Amino acid sequence: MKGIVFTEFLDLVEEKFGLETVDEIISKSELPSEGIYTSIGTYSFSEMLQLLQHLSFRTEISIDNLLLVYGEHFFTVIEKSYPGLLATYKDPIDMLSSIENHIHVEVRKIYPDAELPTFIVEEKTTDSIVMIYKSSRAMHHFGLGLMNKTFEHFKSTASIVLEKLKEDGTEVKFIINKN
Ligand code: HEM
Repeated sequence: MKGIVFTEFLDLVEEKFGLETVDEIISKSELPSEGIYTSIGTYSFSEMLQLLQHLSFRTEISIDNLLLVYGEHFFTVIEKSYPGLLATYKDPIDMLSSIENHIHVEVRKIYPDAELPTFIVEEKTTDSIVMIYKSSRAMHHFGLGLMNKTFEHFKSTASIVLEKLKEDGTEVKFIINKN
């Protein structure tokens, strides 16, 4: 997992819960990095999982809800860091249908060692899309946060239903209908 995902996460934790919480979740986790991340470095996903588990325990907010809020925040990071990539799109559904074949392809050019999910488009119309998310990291709620903000970016909204295809969340169907 890329360092930018950790640095932005810890910044958001500090902003929402304070430095004391950042220190606590780092010290309670067993981190080969010792909690020191650079945005271009690459770190084990298990470090993120431990940080999330300790934050969830401390705040009594579920990991899914923490990932949802983090996904929404991460979209603003994308807007700042990759404006050109977003400018390619005029429509949220077209953008979501292009994650697999364009957006994350470009991300991999920037970060060859990025750990990205797979999105398979099952159905698509002008105002709806059904996609299957697959990833061993089960970060579907991070995806949901990014999707919410994708619609907001295009001054639109959508109703998004998640259907777990595997209990552990490594395969999830997203049923998305533009409002
Ligand atoms: C992960 C970039 C759009 C879904 C990531 C990562 C980056 C990235 C840098 C982290 C990779 C790593 O840690 O190794 C981008 C950029 C985008 C974009 C630049 C737009 C220009 C989206 C959108 C979605 C999405 C619209 C909507 C669902 C995900 C998910 C992950 C991820 C779910 C977490 C990894 C996983 O689940 O395995 N993306 N992304 N991305 N991205 Fe994107």
